Amino acid sequence: MTQFPERVFSGMQPTHTLHLGNYLGAMVNWIAMQETHSCIYCVVDLHAITVFQDPGELVGNIRQVTAAYLACGLDPKRSIIFNQSQVHAHAELAWVFNCVARLGWLNRMTQFKEKAGKDRENASVGLYAYPNLMAADILAYRATHVPVGEDQKQHLELARDIAQKFNNDFAAAIAAHGHGDAFFPLPEPMITGPATRVMSLRDGSKKMSKSDASDLSRINLTDDAEAIAQKFRKARTDPEPLPSETAGLAGRPEADNLVGIYAALAGMTKESVLREFSGAQFSTFKPALSDLAVERLGPIAAEMRRMMDDPGYIDGVLADGAERASAIAVPIMDEVKDVVGLLRTVRAGLPAG
Ligand code: TRP
Repeated sequence: MTQFPERVFSGMQPTHTLHLGNYLGAMVNWIAMQETHSCIYCVVDLHAITVFQDPGELVGNIRQVTAAYLACGLDPKRSIIFNQSQVHAHAELAWVFNCVARLGWLNRMTQFKEKAGKDRENASVGLYAYPNLMAADILAYRATHVPVGEDQKQHLELARDIAQKFNNDFAAAIAAHGHGDAFFPLPEPMITGPATRVMSLRDGSKKMSKSDASDLSRINLTDDAEAIAQKFRKARTDPEPLPSETAGLAGRPEADNLVGIYAALAGMTKESVLREFSGAQFSTFKPALSDLAVERLGPIAAEMRRMMDDPGYIDGVLADGAERASAIAVPIMDEVKDVVGLLRTVRAGLPAG
């Protein structure tokens, strides 16, 4: 079987301000992957518009999520950081995949059912085809590893099915064009575990989410020290003091969540947090937690503000990222066209490549 070099791809939708759940659940992991892998991180605006976005807000959110990527520590020199719609291979390959994926496969996607809700007839075609575009994001770079949350696992399985079916359907042409026995790798999900799942500050059984009606339920990366302190002060808890061991967090989802957040922000285990705060009341623990959060998140918010005041800088980073992304994806797209039996793209105004 053809061996593919390891490459990481992941993305987030520019539909909202990133929050602590995005940071601890995904971003921290993405940052660490830069040490060991060649990584591509995308702001997936084409996915965002599968549900209506206010145009003025969308363009602002694309820049703001990019600023968050950079402020959190994604390094545009080491990794490729770019915006999906600025690289045309994504939409192009997605169309080919629309013709590879089967209706039956998409009909099983639970996220479509959730997002479309009862009024399925009125959902956009794009929302339905969303997983095909996600497969195109990954496979346009022949990415092998995809860090995602549990909720994206089914989409990753679909991407593997698409890669597999493409490899099978076009096996003869793939071999004839010198690509051996596989054109695309079968990308592997790297599922970020429950240890890094951040729950709502108002309800320890629900994930921290952009769509929660209460802003008190989440810490946004743009929140200032006062907002952070207030949200932790108002965070739901139980009346018991903190236990001395993690077993004592069982059945106490809010306490578990706050201890988990402290541990993640401090780079400690929950065990060692509890060793330090064993027997402490929340009136002691919460201020310590908000001080730590302000210390860790304050510089990120400040850096985001600085960059948002200089959109030219952000656009420059994205332009550079799009060029480097295209340099990988465009030749692969030409090879896709060879294999499928289409003619290669004519690049008007550019030297043939
Ligand atoms: N669907 C992903 C989410 O909502 C975002 C996404 C789009 C993505 N394309 C991707 C994630 C490719 C990983 C790889 O979280």
